[in-house]
Amino acid sequence: MSNRAVVRAEGAILDEILSATYDSWHEGLSRTAYARYYAAQKATAWGRVHLDRLALVENDAVLASLKVYRFDATLDARPVRVAGLGAVFTQPAHRRRGAARELIDRVLERAAGDGADVALLFSEIGAEYYARLGFTAIETHEVALRVNEPARRGAPMTMVRGGDDRDLDDLVAMGKTRAAPYRFSLDRGRDLIQHAIVRRRLLAGLSPIGAREVRFYIAEEGASAAAYVLVRVRGAEWTLEECGDRDPTGARVGALLQVLLAREPAERRPEIMAWLPPGFLPPQLTVIDRQPSKDVMMCRPLSPNGAPATALGEADVMYWKSDMF
Ligand SMILES: CC(C)(COP(=O)(O)OP(=O)(O)OC[C@H]1O[C@@H](n2cnc3c(N)ncnc32)[C@H](O)[C@@H]1OP(=O)(O)O)[C@@H](O)C(=O)NCCC(=O)NCCS
Repeated sequence: MSNRAVVRAEGAILDEILSATYDSWHEGLSRTAYARYYAAQKATAWGRVHLDRLALVENDAVLASLKVYRFDATLDARPVRVAGLGAVFTQPAHRRRGAARELIDRVLERAAGDGADVALLFSEIGAEYYARLGFTAIETHEVALRVNEPARRGAPMTMVRGGDDRDLDDLVAMGKTRAAPYRFSLDRGRDLIQHAIVRRRLLAGLSPIGAREVRFYIAEEGASAAAYVLVRVRGAEWTLEECGDRDPTGARVGALLQVLLAREPAERRPEIMAWLPPGFLPPQLTVIDRQPSKDVMMCRPLSPNGAPATALGEADVMYWKSDMF
């Protein structure tokens, strides 16, 4: 008789999952660092409450597993609760027998019972598999940016310093204002923003020395943050994970990036990859390439409250790379 259950992945079960998923998602970390990276994400103020890993087990054998992230969000001007699914994985010996589907169905049923309105995921395997599970794709594009450097070399006049926890309230306020016109966005409170920054720093810290860096910088005005950037650096590849600016045009974000670039050796002019809120492009930046995102953003309503008034399109959604899971 089948004896299947969905359980929280801890101890030996978690270890088995980490061993099985390591090859797919290690991001250059050692096996030990990969385990520490997950444990540390679960240990942030946000992770403790909002992140879980669940497994479908049968007689103590793990069949499939996934991560669930609980977010608060805004959809068509009403508050919604989001269940984010990540790292969906079926142990190789158990594939093609519906284990992932069963786990997703059971997890979403439970999430809906707990009040979730929308399920959200980023598919690494195209849209088809999840479309069969009722998810709809929202088109998103990744842009490659170039920073226009001022003719006279040198940093523009902006007070720039490293960011830290005392800036979080300013970041929350900037994010809220920026998100207001969009139909769908996450409600990014202090803990979520801190989690996003800590996650990037952890990955850099656990990676081989020099492989990755994180730059979190603030443009200061008075004693407070008037703009910020969170940039992930991997060799010559920069990713603008998120940014914010009290100036609607984003001119201070552009100036911040100019300052960071002015500190680079002259021969190094990285391309900056980003997801930018639709319609937002700081004046100092030029889009030099635009491609459909590799990971397909998909969502599925779980309650009447989670059904968008009309289908969501790219222009309706504000979502930072930092919040990708
Ligand atoms: C994707 C995955 C979770 C599916 O698990 P599963 O328990 O075998 O899933 P189901 O039995 O419910 O469905 C099997 C179907 O998944 C789909 N599928 C599996 N891998 C796929 C891939 N790489 N691309 C597109 N579709 C895929 C296929 O439609 C497959 O049906 P088929 O074998 O008849 O072609 C599993 O293959 C896996 O763990 N892959 C490696 C990790 C991964 O890529 N996870 C997805 C991250 S978004």
